[in-house]
Amino acid sequence: MTTMIVLLGLVMVIGPAGPGQVRPEQLGPEASSQLSDLVFKNVKVLKGIPVDEFMDTMGMFASSLGYDCSSCHSPEIRTNRDAFAIETPAVQRARGMITMMNTINRNYFRGEPRVSCFTCHRGNYSPEIIPSLALQYGELKEDPNALNIFPDRKAYADQVFEKYFQALGGRDRLANLTSFAATGTYTGFNTGGAEVPVEIFARAPDQRTQIIHMDIGDGLKTYDGRNGWVAEEWRPVPLVSLTGGNLAGARLDAVISFPAGIQKAFTEYKVGSTVIDDHAIQILQGTNPGETPVNLYFDESGLLVRVVRWNKTAVGTVPTQIDYSDYREVAGVKLPFRIVMTWTDGQNTFTLKEVQANVDIDRAKFSRPAPFKRR
Ligand code: HEC
Ligand code: HEC
Repeated sequence: MTTMIVLLGLVMVIGPAGPGQVRPEQLGPEASSQLSDLVFKNVKVLKGIPVDEFMDTMGMFASSLGYDCSSCHSPEIRTNRDAFAIETPAVQRARGMITMMNTINRNYFRGEPRVSCFTCHRGNYSPEIIPSLALQYGELKEDPNALNIFPDRKAYADQVFEKYFQALGGRDRLANLTSFAATGTYTGFNTGGAEVPVEIFARAPDQRTQIIHMDIGDGLKTYDGRNGWVAEEWRPVPLVSLTGGNLAGARLDAVISFPAGIQKAFTEYKVGSTVIDDHAIQILQGTNPGETPVNLYFDESGLLVRVVRWNKTAVGTVPTQIDYSDYREVAGVKLPFRIVMTWTDGQNTFTLKEVQANVDIDRAKFSRPAPFKRR
């Protein structure tokens, strides 16, 4: 422990029990060469964290303050990626805020990450000082994505799964689905709203690759059953190894492709209820030791309509929401043809056109992708 702290200079930043902190030996050779202060040029506070987590800290900032990247960074970032390293008053102010936040957590919350940028800012660059009577006397609005779920003591996880499997076509048919290859379209912040072709390959129980075909080059995201990577044009390095909650999330995306295996994906489940778009929803919150929980949302018909997962970072926990809809039958099993992924850095929509079940997929499709290369 001591060596690590000296090595990474983390002690003042996150503290010995800091969130999102990963020991180099847990990372493997690839990710440990991808630590923030090795990859970036001007990192003074958020040192020694994997690049994927570092980018999530930026998402935390943007989301908490209602900012986009250029609200803090130099306008030059639009044309030159190296410009993220340019000092600006807002970057300096934000560094001071990280130190303030860490001091509050250390001195008043035993080092636990109870206060984040969002605690004060709540989507506003200038936090409110005066209490709101509209809030005090207004209607209480429940956030279905909250990590603390409202327990439903009358329901059991097994029942919710049974209804889900029934709604999809039954356990037998689900067990017969062992692979698929899908084609469709993708739109996201990185396509400027344009639709581009996408391919998704998946093999049971937990391998998945998506390939986004853009004019500038192919963007890949792969989970091979153990490790996960992204190779996309907009990422800070051409091949990012996924860590922490991002890796667990990539695994979950793969597992959910073959619903039969999802029940075993978590060691513990809690049942809760909520409402999404006026629909009564049952929530299953799955937990594995040492990981942040995952919320699975099922509608009245039993289908999975949403997943919310979280990633712990050095400046607090960030959410990712995935909405599933337009279920259609493929080889007797219902699969979602529309998948919308919303996170602090943007929103991505996958619209499938064709899904071929139980096809042979080359093993190489699920191996570590090559770094992103411009066409
Ligand atoms: C609230 C202000 C704020 C916002 C908004 C913000 N950043 Fe940052 N960014 C910072 C700070 C502060 C640092 C330096 C961190 C440090 O010194 O530890 C930084 C550093 C970086 C770096 C490292 C640059 C280098 O080479 O040293 C990158 C890359 C980056 N930000 C990307 C982004 C992206 C992409 C977004 C939008 C999703 C974003 N930032 C939004 C405050 C912000
Ligand atoms: C304990 C409450 C609190 C926390 C936690 C907090 N802030 Fe702030 N922040 C403030 C207050 C208060 C201001 C001053 C706003 C004003 O002047 O109107 C401010 C101002 C800022 C500003 C300048 C905004 C502007 O344009 O004037 C930035 C940037 C900022 N905070 C970033 C962050 C970041 C990033 C985090 C998380 C690491 C964070 N803050 C956490 C309370 C907080």
